[in-house]
Order: sequence, then C-alpha cells, then structure tokens
Amino acid sequence: MPWFPVIISHSPVWSHYARRYVGAGVAVVEEGNDLSSSMTAKNMIKRLTSRVLHFNKAPWKRLRALIAGGRTWRVSGRRNTVCIEGQTQNVSYDIDGNDNRVLVQANALLSNVTVFIRGNNNTLLVSRGVRYLGGSFRFEGNNCTIEIGENTTVVSASLQAIESNRQISIGKQCMLGMEVSAWTSDFHTIIDRDTKQRINSAQDIILDDHVWVGAYVLILKGVHVGRGSVIGARSVVTKDVPPHVVAAGSPARVVREGVDWNPGKDAS
Ligand SMILES: CC(C)(COP(=O)(O)OP(=O)(O)OC[C@H]1O[C@@H](n2cnc3c(N)ncnc32)[C@H](O)[C@@H]1OP(=O)(O)O)[C@@H](O)C(=O)NCCC(=O)NCCS
Repeated sequence: MPWFPVIISHSPVWSHYARRYVGAGVAVVEEGNDLSSSMTAKNMIKRLTSRVLHFNKAPWKRLRALIAGGRTWRVSGRRNTVCIEGQTQNVSYDIDGNDNRVLVQANALLSNVTVFIRGNNNTLLVSRGVRYLGGSFRFEGNNCTIEIGENTTVVSASLQAIESNRQISIGKQCMLGMEVSAWTSDFHTIIDRDTKQRINSAQDIILDDHVWVGAYVLILKGVHVGRGSVIGARSVVTKDVPPHVVAAGSPARVVREGVDWNPGKDAS
C-alpha cells in the first residue's frame, strides 16, 4: 500500500478530511511528524479522533481522546513517521526524538502494545502477516532497529533496543509465547577495576527464521538463536543457540539436538 499523506493537523474540520480520504491511506502531519494509516473505514474516524486531539493538546480535547479510545499518541520532535498498513488495536505511541519510523505492514496485527521511543533515527518494522498480541517495544538511543519477520506470532513480548546502534531482529515464522523479553543492554555498566573498561557493552539480538521461544523466556544481549531451534519455558538465554536444537534452563543449555518444530499439536 503506497503512502498517501494528507495534512490535516491543526484543522478543526479533521473529520471532513478523514471521511474524504477513507480507504486511501491518511497521514496526520504536525511539526514534521507523519502518522500514516490505511485502516478500514469502520475504525478510521474513531482512531483519527484520538490522534488529532492528542496532537492539538488542549486539555479538554485530550480528555475526549481518552474517552474515545484510551490510547496515547504522544509524539514530539521532527519528522517522526508512523505508517500503519495493517491493523492495530489499543496501541499507544510515546515518541520523543527525530526521524523515528514505525511501519506496520499489510496483514499484520499489532494489539495491546506500547511503542516507546527516546532518541533519533530508530526503526520499528512489523512485517506482513505478523500477529503481535501484547507487550511493548522500547527504544532508548539512536539508530536502533527492531524488526519482526513475516508471519511471526507473538503472544506477548517486551523487546527493548537500548543504547545506540543496536538491533533486535526476529526472523520469519517464529513463535514467541507469553511474557518473552529481549534486551540489548544490561541497562547499567559493569567496569573491570584493572582496565577501567566496560565489560558489558550492549549487543544485538538475532533470532533466525522459524525459532520457537517458550513462555517467560529472557533473552539477553548478544544472543543469536539459529534457525529451527526451541527455547524452553522460563529460560534465560545468555549465549548463542545453534540451529535445530532445544535449549533450556538458566542459563540456557542445549538439551536436545537435531529437532524441528511446528505450531500444531501433531507431527504434520
Ligand atoms: C522446551 C520444551 C518444548 C522441550 O520439550 P521436550 O523436548 O519434550 O523436552 P524434555 O521434557 O524431554 O526435556 C529435555 C531435558 O531438558 C530439560 N528441560 C526441558 N524444558 C526445560 C525448561 N523449560 N527449563 C529447564 N530445563 C528444561 C528437561 O529437564 C530435560 O532434562 P534432562 O535431560 O536432564 O532430564 C518444553 O520443555 C517446554 O519448555 N515447554 C513449554 C513451551 C511453552 O512455553 N509453550 C507456551 C506457548 S509458546
């Protein structure tokens, strides 16, 4: 779906524009921030109400927005872009910085999620066919990326790209259970007393395609999970996991090799 920006911010007749561009994709632009959407006609008016009222910032309007949907749209800075080609339900955006991008591609569903960004030039990509049913995305730093590959299913996850130039990449056709967390940083610094150097720098997290992460798993900085692997429930993953194994425990260790998995309950 191509982007189809229409400037309607500050307009007291937003509903006129919203109706006019229903189905064509709409952008709400204020102070250089683009919020673009190609939602269904049914939801569009309601959602735009929430967004525009939040931007205009008059207290009574914010109250009305709260009543309208309970969603938060706080976007400050310049040239931030939110493009929703798929479907979102109860998603809150709290963005402070410049040149950040959120893209929810067609046929993706993002539900009960908070998108929190503090920094510049960060990117959240939710690819086609993703079902992400709860949790949060958090960016603290610049030039970070969180990417969810096509047709991945997430029950609930908190994905946090913390410190600049970091990425979290979840491959295609992965499955994440409830309450999964992945953090690129330890959030605080550990220093070697002899060298005075930091020993716990932030690192990327990569899950290859077709990885199954069980419920309540914590994935720490620098982990790469190979294709087709399974992470047992409540594991803490601190090191790389090779392809086609089951890894489990805290810290997670390989407990089985030469496996594959499917999302059903039988062998097919
Ligand atoms: C990872 C899992 C799928 C593996 O199942 P499995 O292949 O049948 O594994 P087994 O039960 O035979 O266990 C193999 C070994 O790993 C250990 N193990 C398995 N899961 C573990 C876990 N979550 N934490 C710690 N150790 C675990 C077992 O104790 C066993 O150890 P042993 O060989 O020393 O006896 C399963 O243990 C699991 O975690 N299930 C929950 C999945 C989930 O979270 N689903 C929610 C929806 S996504």
